[in-house]
Amino acid sequence: MLRVGILTSGGDCQGLNAAIRGVAKGLYGEFGKDVEILGIQDGYRGLIEGEARSIGQEEFSGILTLGGTILGTSRQPFKLMRVVDENSVDKVKQMKDHYKKWKLDCLVVLGGNGTHKTANLLSEEGLNVVSLPKTIDNDLWGTDMTFGFQSAVELATYVLDCIHTTATSHGRVFLVEIMGHKVGWLTLHAGIAGGADVILLPEIPYDIDKTARCIQRRERAGKRFSILAVAEGAISRQEAKLSKKEFKAARAEMKDPSIAYRVSRELGEKLGQEIRVTVPGHFQRGGSPCAYDRVLATRFGAGAARLIAEKKFGCMVALQNGQIVPVPLSEVAGKLKLVPPDCGTVQAAKEMGIGFGD
Ligand code: F6P
Repeated sequence: MLRVGILTSGGDCQGLNAAIRGVAKGLYGEFGKDVEILGIQDGYRGLIEGEARSIGQEEFSGILTLGGTILGTSRQPFKLMRVVDENSVDKVKQMKDHYKKWKLDCLVVLGGNGTHKTANLLSEEGLNVVSLPKTIDNDLWGTDMTFGFQSAVELATYVLDCIHTTATSHGRVFLVEIMGHKVGWLTLHAGIAGGADVILLPEIPYDIDKTARCIQRRERAGKRFSILAVAEGAISRQEAKLSKKEFKAARAEMKDPSIAYRVSRELGEKLGQEIRVTVPGHFQRGGSPCAYDRVLATRFGAGAARLIAEKKFGCMVALQNGQIVPVPLSEVAGKLKLVPPDCGTVQAAKEMGIGFGD
């Protein structure tokens, strides 16, 4: 009997259940009744605390379109994994002990960046780990695409579309703050799809005067409104020069609730006009996965099951040039996939007249 533990960790996203279903169906297809799947509750928390249950085959049906994760999730920071806590809990030892106690042959981990650092740590500690790349941020190194990203692009684009109609009616400047943590993929794609006039990304530090000039240029051309898609991780040119420590200190001092509010205040001072800010926040990772993510998550799930059948562990399933391929966890862990400022998508956006504040 093959025993497989599965967990979802970190911020949730659309397509987690589709991916879980993909892994399960792939395993049942390969091993039939000779596989038992253990659902580990709330990500690494369940593995640390020993909370898991056997999930029957029927429970993996009917979840393809369901948002969230049937397994629950939590954030367990990687930097604390090796730190023994106040109750003397050695988290890494606990995770290894539960893996052994549950007699697992493999652990399947669905997660983003932090999750992959811990997945790699567990693999180095001798556990058989296979992972799937999930996140609306699309910032995992080694894969062209993560599942969840396209669904979030759809939702962020929908917000921009709606803002467009009200901005047009009132002739206002609007800022929409888009998620994505420290990278700008989501803002770039939704910004282009939603017809934003200015896109501010962490990878292209903005100059506030140049950003203001983009809006003034539009006004001179007779445009009554402007829409700015601002990544939640956007930074100014001055901030880009700071060390990590200085940047943290400067942001801790910031009075504005978030970056879009700060840009809005700075632009308001320069333009002398009313500006509105919209922050859709966690809405962007809620609800059903779009069709693209259902397919991608299913392909990743099937790919992970195949790797388990081949006993090929210590890998993340990735999408590269349209193919599902394994990438060693050691190569993925700790690396961010940033938007290259000179990539074709940014270039095309610039050719459309979209400003980047640079
Ligand atoms: O990594 C996914 C993500 O949604 C980011 O885009 C965002 O910065 C972060 O998670 C929000 O985290 P939390 O759910 O802990 O508020």
